Amino acid sequence: MNEKGVSEKELFDELCSFSNADTNFKKVFSSMCTIPHPIAVAAQQQFSLSNIGDPGLFAGTCRMETEVIRMSASMLNHPDPKSAVGHMTSGGTESNIEAVLHMKNRFLNSISDAENTVENATENKLNNNNNRVNQSKPNLILPKTSHFSFEKIANLLDIDLKKADIDSNFKVIPESVESLIDENTIGLIGIAGNTEFGFCDPIDALSEIALRHELPLHVDAAFGGFVYPFLPESDSTETGDGNENKSKSKKVKFAFDLPGVTSVSIDPHKMGRSVIPGGILIFKNESVIGSSLDKIKVRTPYLTSKYQSTLTGTRPGSSVAATYAVMKHLGAEGYRKNVAYCMELTNHFQNELKKIDLQPYIKPKINIITVSVGDGKNKAADQEKTEKIRAQLLEKYGWNVSATKTVPALRFVLMPHVTKEDITTMLSDLKELLNA
Ligand SMILES: Cc1ncc(COP(=O)(O)O)c(C=O)c1O
Repeated sequence: MNEKGVSEKELFDELCSFSNADTNFKKVFSSMCTIPHPIAVAAQQQFSLSNIGDPGLFAGTCRMETEVIRMSASMLNHPDPKSAVGHMTSGGTESNIEAVLHMKNRFLNSISDAENTVENATENKLNNNNNRVNQSKPNLILPKTSHFSFEKIANLLDIDLKKADIDSNFKVIPESVESLIDENTIGLIGIAGNTEFGFCDPIDALSEIALRHELPLHVDAAFGGFVYPFLPESDSTETGDGNENKSKSKKVKFAFDLPGVTSVSIDPHKMGRSVIPGGILIFKNESVIGSSLDKIKVRTPYLTSKYQSTLTGTRPGSSVAATYAVMKHLGAEGYRKNVAYCMELTNHFQNELKKIDLQPYIKPKINIITVSVGDGKNKAADQEKTEKIRAQLLEKYGWNVSATKTVPALRFVLMPHVTKEDITTMLSDLKELLNA
């Protein structure tokens, strides 16, 4: 550290050089985040000193957090939004960690309850390990398409991940999920808006499985949470046989209107147009976390609250204010417009693709498009070519694009910062590379 402080001018010149090295999202097709709405930024600045980890000092921000949870629960079709419980997190990863932590605690509590029953019945065998109801590692069942945050979770919480098969639409197969359930299963995961393709798992079927096996079901809607509820009915429709049919249409259900869903995570810092960090974790009601909360709850002797039961301590009230402000300001109508714009980009992208003799790898449901640039004969060769094109798009033209791992394809996320002109220019650059 320098001994003497640098002047404001010198410092901000330096900060400028750092910020010039960051993206302004101008040529970014790879990110699930975007430029926040100006209302969110203004609210973030107004509440820059707020810490909701110490609620007594920031009672106003806490009221906003409660309101954010209520608004989100209502957006997620909760039958009684006031009974939902939850809080803001730093994003999808933290929300998923906490949701699974509760599942694990619930599972451990149920084991110790069962052990107590066994012990009471056979007091003379108290020390016999064979009496343990369950000795293996707890496991979590999740789709193969799940976000990599679950790999961290497995390590952090010492659980096994059992990955269920997916169908040709990259959605989890319910029968595969059910076949993986055993006595050590702590819960199920479904995804609304998977990271690579944006598809929504059949959460209605998962809900039934969860109810049948009395397991919690967490829906990771980090990306899709602010998309699926706002799609026009005809775009988000499916018939029971998986085919689109507008006359028999029904809206995709993925949240609290399904009785087996016990928690949902959504990220305002993705399609919610709020600032980073901004995640929301919502549980259906107090009873779904119940005694598992007691394991996390700690006394907070030097704070204004008596207890804390969130994963992190100090939490940014500025993100709460930004999320409250943008949700209130946009309302459902504003979010419908936001999604409509991104879907217009998605349609434009598909039309422009045709002009260069390409098509989406699979018809997109929301604003994520994957495009295969290989000949489909050899996966490894296609993967190599995809990676090469991805790197060249960046090095030669400055376009940030990602690639999928499940299949060899380029992946484009059509976020609110993207324009139709960006798409046309980028695809013309892509065509040049493919023809070279
Ligand atoms: C489906 C899904 N879940 C979780 C996450 C993790 O979110 P974050 O990076 O905000 O922690 C992502 C990020 O892309 C995601 O797509």
